[in-house]
Amino acid sequence: MGIDPDILAPEGWQAALAAFDWQVDIGVTDWVQDDPVNRYDLPERLERPAAPEPARAAPRPPQETPKVDPVELARQAAQGATTLEDLRAALAAFDQCELKKGARNTVFADGNPAARVLVLGEAPGRDEDQEGLPFVGRAGQLLDRMFEAIGLQRQSPDPARALYITNVMPWRPPQNRDPEPEEIAMMRPFVERHIALVDPDVIVTMGNTPCLCLLGQKGILRLRGHWTQALGKPVLPMTHPAYLLRNPAAKREAWADLLSLKARLT
Ligand code: URA
Repeated sequence: MGIDPDILAPEGWQAALAAFDWQVDIGVTDWVQDDPVNRYDLPERLERPAAPEPARAAPRPPQETPKVDPVELARQAAQGATTLEDLRAALAAFDQCELKKGARNTVFADGNPAARVLVLGEAPGRDEDQEGLPFVGRAGQLLDRMFEAIGLQRQSPDPARALYITNVMPWRPPQNRDPEPEEIAMMRPFVERHIALVDPDVIVTMGNTPCLCLLGQKGILRLRGHWTQALGKPVLPMTHPAYLLRNPAAKREAWADLLSLKARLT
């Protein structure tokens, strides 16, 4: 079967990836081909004597390929941004991260940029990738309810009652895997700039990825609830709402963390 030329168009490629993701999500592990394959034949076929190697041209001296340091490129792109819109455009134009190729959207942020509280999550999931906004799926709905319980809402025009929400990774990792340390390091200059431009009074990190990014530490169950500092700001690590959906008993500790945040803001 030849390659459908539409697949090579960017939107065709994304549609193919989405179809593939969907099949993995519903549990497909193998596929049936049009023509039957007798797998018992394969070793026999593989044992055929190899065809003689064609004569090779003399090897060319190795070419110097200029090395690009993606973290340095990210730093330059982020430093050039003097407004949030600049930063959004810089991220959308940044092509060093492989995750971008499989994502439908660059998920930048949501909420009120004047908010006192900035919530830093991990990475978009399927719903966020589709809508282009952070925390809009089930975990996001729980996050909204959690903060509403202490009087904070992402859409509030009042900075004292508002939230600003963003993620370490602006692109969905395949099958929602954890971002790799190199991917987190590449996004750190953007996260730093994002926080500098919003200039919140307090940062709340959700889950391990933002702790790795801002604090250089993992182990959210140990870190949660303990105020610390990063980038000159108070930071409160909390367990991720997706974890709370899987472990409802942990909501009790999350509530204690929310009360601690509320006390800090008064
Ligand atoms: N989980 C996150 O950390 N961020 C989102 O935007 C959605 C789910």
